[in-house]
Amino acid sequence: MNLSLRLNIAGLEFGTPLLAAPMAGYSDLAFRNSLRPLGGVGLAYTEMLSPASLLQGKGKRSRILLATCAEDQPLGYQIYGAHTSTLCDAAKLLEQTGVKLIDINMGCPQRKIAGNGAGAGLLRDPEEAVRIAASVVQSVKVPVTVKLRLGWDHERLVAHEMVPGLEAAGVAAITIHGRTRSQGYTGKADLDEIRRVVQAARNIPIIGNGDVTSPEAARRMFETTGCAAIMIGRGILSNPWLIRDIWRDLQGLPPAPPPDRAEQLAYMRAHFERMLQLYGPAVGTILYRKWIPQYGRKLLKGRRHMVELLQITEADDMRKAMDALGQEQE
Ligand SMILES: Cc1cc2nc3c(=O)[nH]c(=O)nc-3n(C[C@H](O)[C@H](O)[C@H](O)COP(=O)(O)O)c2cc1C
Repeated sequence: MNLSLRLNIAGLEFGTPLLAAPMAGYSDLAFRNSLRPLGGVGLAYTEMLSPASLLQGKGKRSRILLATCAEDQPLGYQIYGAHTSTLCDAAKLLEQTGVKLIDINMGCPQRKIAGNGAGAGLLRDPEEAVRIAASVVQSVKVPVTVKLRLGWDHERLVAHEMVPGLEAAGVAAITIHGRTRSQGYTGKADLDEIRRVVQAARNIPIIGNGDVTSPEAARRMFETTGCAAIMIGRGILSNPWLIRDIWRDLQGLPPAPPPDRAEQLAYMRAHFERMLQLYGPAVGTILYRKWIPQYGRKLLKGRRHMVELLQITEADDMRKAMDALGQEQE
């Protein structure tokens, strides 16, 4: 396989061609700081940020979503919206706070987003989407990337047609999730369609995305599509060691031993403490519960056990429950 082990986006160099996907409700500072030390992450993104809430000021929620630190680099900030002026204003505001890379979401399938013309809703009017991207590029000096789905539905596969326009508009890289809006998360990511998008680009990197849950799937994505880099989403929610494993494989290194129970629990516990720091103990504990089904499948003994943990509301009770998991045998 002839691939570059680095990624360059408009002069920014990333140490690996592996990106941690923006995932609403998951890709916060607590997760990114847990994931990065495991290795292999070339670039991570925030979840999609609403320009309206960024522009409206200093609410606690937007402070949390914007939170970062020295170890949390490189980091791209993703914004979504349907209107040029709000997206441009949000991009300018982010740039003023020192953000190095901005991504525009053109793939979110959720009705409340796409139905209002944002996210994948932009794919219904590709020319307008390209104009919006051009305006955002013009409004800031930092590189602007775009994340697309293939199209609204299979009758309108527009992503490959948009690439020349986006490239001419100055977009610095494009991520393509190989599904349409109508598919949601059903079916499989279409690697042939991703290849069409790759082939439509002249000089900018195309980042392939969808269903990469193993080093083999990553190789298939690189080999079939010719993409410059891969973005990984759901696979890292339940297996944060996945990017490390793919990175080792790309370098021709032997697989690392899979994390044992103690390592998994230590990871879970550290992630929990980071969430408490970010959100405070009450909210942090409640929000952490969504990670339990992700991490718990391998660690918990059956459904009852899972339900018990999902009812915990106090930080100390969660700590005790995790300590108790450490006493159990594999
Ligand atoms: C819970 C969840 C939240 C997501 N939130 C975002 C988001 O904020 N912005 C975005 O561009 N994509 C979002 N996505 C899509 C992912 O970034 C990615 O494109 C998709 O999951 C396909 O990649 P995967 O098969 O590796 O998961 C989200 C996906 C999931 C599962």
